[in-house]
Amino acid sequence: MKYSIVLILLFIVGCASAIYSSKEEKLYVEKCGGCHRVYAKDEFSKEHWLKEFDEMTKRAKLDEAQKMMMRNYLFDEGTANPPLSN
Ligand code: HEC
Repeated sequence: MKYSIVLILLFIVGCASAIYSSKEEKLYVEKCGGCHRVYAKDEFSKEHWLKEFDEMTKRAKLDEAQKMMMRNYLFDEGTANPPLSN
């Protein structure tokens, strides 16, 4: 009985991490997708993102490490999908 619970848990954990391509993306969807839809990175200009960023990380109650992770995720110019060049 206990064994099958462990199996079910492993299954859930496995699926949950499979949906996201990175832990940053997971954090973003989980923390920021609760109040509004998950905005695409290229949906807003960099100026607009920066304007919202501090306020939103407060609303999402991110700690410093998570904030940094989020900043990298949203503003990293080196990603394959350059988010904020417009
Ligand atoms: C507690 C609820 C809440 C959380 C959590 C939250 N937001 Fe928001 N967000 C809002 C609301 C409400 C607005 C609408 C504008 C306003 O009130 O400032 C908004 C607006 C925005 C906008 C501007 C949208 C536009 O059309 O201009 C962006 C970008 C944004 N949020 C990003 C984020 C990010 C990134 C996170 C995670 C770090 C996040 N939000 C977490 C409530 C939230």
